[in-house]
Amino acid sequence: MNRIILDTDIGTDSDDAVALSLALRSPEIKLEGVTTVYGNVHVRAKIAKKIMALSGDSEVNVYPGVVQTLLHNREVFWAGIEGEGLDIEDHSMKDVKHAVDYIIETVMNNPGEITLVTIGPLTNIAAAIIREPRLVRNVKEIVMMGGVVRLGSSAVELPPIEHNVKCDPEAASLVFSSGAPILMVGLDVTRQVSITRQDKDDLAASGTPLAVTLTKQIEGYMDYRKRDFTFMHDPLAVALLVNRQLVTTRRMSIQVDYDHRHPTGITVGELNEEGNVEVCLEVDRESFLKLLKERVFC
Ligand code: RIB
Ligand code: CA
Repeated sequence: MNRIILDTDIGTDSDDAVALSLALRSPEIKLEGVTTVYGNVHVRAKIAKKIMALSGDSEVNVYPGVVQTLLHNREVFWAGIEGEGLDIEDHSMKDVKHAVDYIIETVMNNPGEITLVTIGPLTNIAAAIIREPRLVRNVKEIVMMGGVVRLGSSAVELPPIEHNVKCDPEAASLVFSSGAPILMVGLDVTRQVSITRQDKDDLAASGTPLAVTLTKQIEGYMDYRKRDFTFMHDPLAVALLVNRQLVTTRRMSIQVDYDHRHPTGITVGELNEEGNVEVCLEVDRESFLKLLKERVFC
């Protein structure tokens, strides 16, 4: 059983909601808590609560985290579609523990047991490492949707910078160089798991409230991006807690190259047997989409 904390910027791209549902619907995973990051973390927490209720589990606690970037030196991107069509309820978040405190307490009280699955910018995790440096020796692993090395088969089709790193490159740099064991689930593999509008309609066919809601969110995001496809980036990171064999990896060290400009935050990967990052380079797309369909959209 994999005990995880899911750290998410749920609400902007629709794939975080799918990832959360997959975690809740997978018996191999025990979701200890959800932490939100980047921008309006309270709205994100309410969206997470709504998706959890639809997935059949409202018991897991949600902890809002850091709003700004680590150094307060970059504007926070807010799409404006967050929560649209979800009829989110007004849970009071006043007395809830801060995400960074929750992450530190949970990892330090359970040495070697907790995996941090990060599917948003790395600000909460960086802040937790600054506050408690021993976190990096006590976390089981960080499974991170973030970055891109362009060393796999789809290299030429990939952009040089990935969103979660781009939003807070200083935080990402701190996490990569912390020495914590990391599984990097970057665009090298997540751009291989796209779905089209037709796929989205097929996924809605079961008609369950969860499938209908998630596919509406997916449609809303495709409309917002003005394209007929989208990627299941974050669900792939969660799926690797169910079946690591879905990907092939190489061990590397990762350095984040960034400067004051925007966009910035190139993840430079170098093969290194002593490195702390296992970088996913290829993925079994069909098996992953089958898993997603069977667990979330049935
Ligand atoms: O680059 C992909 C990442 O950015 C994913 O986490 C997705 O949810 C978007 O926020
Ligand atoms: Ca995300």
